[in-house]
Amino acid sequence: MQTCDSTDNLKSLLYQYLWHALWIPRPTLSRRRAAYENPIPAEPDSQAYVPVSHDTTLARMSGILKGKVALITGAGAGIGAATARRFAAEGAVLWLNDLDPTALDAIRDETGGRGLAGDMSDSAFATHWVDEAAGQHGRVDVLYNNVGVSRIGLIGELSDDDWRSQQRLNLDTVFFATRAALKHMVRRRSGSIVSISSGAGIGGQYRLGGYAAAKAGVISLMETVATEYGRLGIRANSLTPGPTATEPLLDYLKGRPGGIEAHTADLNLARLSAVEEVAAAVAWLASDEASNVSGICLQCNIRSGSRRPT
Ligand SMILES: NC(=O)c1ccc[n+]([C@@H]2O[C@H](COP(=O)([O-])OP(=O)(O)OC[C@H]3O[C@@H](n4cnc5c(N)ncnc54)[C@H](O)[C@@H]3O)[C@@H](O)[C@H]2O)c1
Repeated sequence: MQTCDSTDNLKSLLYQYLWHALWIPRPTLSRRRAAYENPIPAEPDSQAYVPVSHDTTLARMSGILKGKVALITGAGAGIGAATARRFAAEGAVLWLNDLDPTALDAIRDETGGRGLAGDMSDSAFATHWVDEAAGQHGRVDVLYNNVGVSRIGLIGELSDDDWRSQQRLNLDTVFFATRAALKHMVRRRSGSIVSISSGAGIGGQYRLGGYAAAKAGVISLMETVATEYGRLGIRANSLTPGPTATEPLLDYLKGRPGGIEAHTADLNLARLSAVEEVAAAVAWLASDEASNVSGICLQCNIRSGSRRPT
């Protein structure tokens, strides 16, 4: 009995010694235990909503588009303008477009690019715009289809014109420029086409049915171009950004119940994307860094799987 007591005492002393040697403040331990038991915070952490800033200074770039003749539609604002800046920083020779001539002038001046203002949903203009690029620069290496516009409305309430305008602005624009670019790319057996879709293009989106259907079409169109033209050295891919911090979207979300947080809480990264982040994904897909990638839809911070329980 005596032996047993002294062994117990010894064990107790040893535990006490170890506890002090490995002393961890109790609040830290309880926080760790809580994080283990419930790794997803019930309430969004406000830190998570700080937009990520991207350093797009020339020094940071690796020149993955050096010397490539790159065409961008709708480059006057938002993601298109951010992509023009990124492409320029990566060494691309830019041929730009926007419906708004003033916005086009501004981004041309900023990036040293050239191009024409006009409506990409006009088949004749889109073809002329691409042919001019090839005429001026001798070739078309990259086409980035960026134009897109969303209109809100339940499916049962969309007019014929609402529906057609969504298909025209989001899908026809991509088809017209892609068809024109393929002609020049096939001649050189080389080219990369990137088209922007949207999280709405996968799984639909409440009150954005016309937009969602057109954006699903963009994914399918790029997959088909990839299968038809891959053997001729041409790659085609799409990407689906989630809500991205452009001025019009920020204004819209501020006026909605719950604001930005309500619309980002169940995205994979639980925050808005920055335009520079989307531009970085486009630049990679456009470049030879992705030379073995064709027919994919790159999902960028959308909601995968079902909604999280609240
Ligand atoms: N902002 C987002 O949250 C988000 C998310 C997913 C996908 N997208 C897609 O990204 C693309 C760019 O979106 P954004 O938010 O940067 O838009 P934006 O409205 O900020 O910029 C679009 C630009 O395209 C131009 N444009 C519009 N119609 C045109 C036409 N017919 N011909 C030529 N130019 C035209 C506009 O003048 C504008 O400069 C769109 O295709 C959009 O559907 C945006």
